[in-house]
Amino acid sequence: MIKARPNIMKIQPYEPGRPIGDVKRILGLKSVIKLASNENPIGPSPKAVNAIRRRLEEIHRYPDGGSYSLLEAMSKFLRVPKDQIIFGNGSNEIIELASRAYLKEGDEVLLAEPSFLVYKLVAQAAGARQVTVPLKDFRYDLDAMARKISRRTRIVYIANPDNPTGSYVTSEELERFFKKVSSDTLVILDEAYWEFVDADDFPESFRYLKRGNTLILRTFSKAYGLAGLRMGYGIASVAIIDALHRTRQPFNVNSIAQTAAEAALKDQAHLKKTRAVVWEGKKFWYRELERIGLEYIPTQTNFILVNTRGNGSLLFQRLLKKGIIIRDMKAYGLNQFVRITIGTPEENRRCLRALQERNRQ
Ligand SMILES: Cc1ncc(COP(=O)(O)O)c(C=O)c1O
Repeated sequence: MIKARPNIMKIQPYEPGRPIGDVKRILGLKSVIKLASNENPIGPSPKAVNAIRRRLEEIHRYPDGGSYSLLEAMSKFLRVPKDQIIFGNGSNEIIELASRAYLKEGDEVLLAEPSFLVYKLVAQAAGARQVTVPLKDFRYDLDAMARKISRRTRIVYIANPDNPTGSYVTSEELERFFKKVSSDTLVILDEAYWEFVDADDFPESFRYLKRGNTLILRTFSKAYGLAGLRMGYGIASVAIIDALHRTRQPFNVNSIAQTAAEAALKDQAHLKKTRAVVWEGKKFWYRELERIGLEYIPTQTNFILVNTRGNGSLLFQRLLKKGIIIRDMKAYGLNQFVRITIGTPEENRRCLRALQERNRQ
């Protein structure tokens, strides 16, 4: 029997949030809400949906492999030249492209633990050696990470803000870190939740682009509400973007996603509304969690990590039976915790009620 490479068989497959349809079918529930995958609480921009409708007649054509129209719009929006931007089938794909372009077997990658699980999966698939540094008080410990950089370190992954904690590294911390990184180590600054940030001391990551070893990742999956279409982007030096282009498929992002992303980008009013709902929801959760006496980690994202003081997986199962999908944190080694995506006011209230019922049990 043909066998896969040994490092592939060691990969622990990523477990995504449970889909609404699955939970309805399996548990026979009519009303199910999903607060598990950090999706947009108010849905996609209606302008993006209309743009998709208009584009549907053309799906017999291959997409524009260079995403020209979206690239133009993005370049103007970010004020970054077109040859410093790449699109991916979700920002996940760009994490993978970077590993294809820069990692060979035996190279080291530097990771915080726990953090976004995809970094590990990708490094494992590449046969890289993982050097991990534990979080300190649920935050990246960049000073400790800097101490672990060796001559063999090829990629450092920094989720900022972080998933699953929602915490962030400050501009000062990042500045200190960059001073200790050599220019032949790629620093991936994953800013998937950037649009939700409201902290004043959050880093201006674009200032590190000129160093030539920085790859910034952002996505349309979260604040822009297009998770189902898979569209993310990377910003880096011309040389890095060129290397990433060489490793991608010619048509890695589909035509519908390109059209939708461009329309979504132009609908900044929808983004603003999304942000307002999330920030309102954040205030609600902070207030209510304090009231019911559950600890949480302050968040710069659209989700919140909550200490259940018990078994997070059991709470997840209890809520699931009530038609509320949240996320248990077993895969991250945070067994007492659950991660709750901030939803609409109604969804937040329903989830809170279920949490309180459990608290009384
Ligand atoms: C930190 C982080 N980076 C990247 C992603 C991937 O997003 P995308 O949907 O763009 O692949 C996620 C999604 O959960 C995330 O939490």
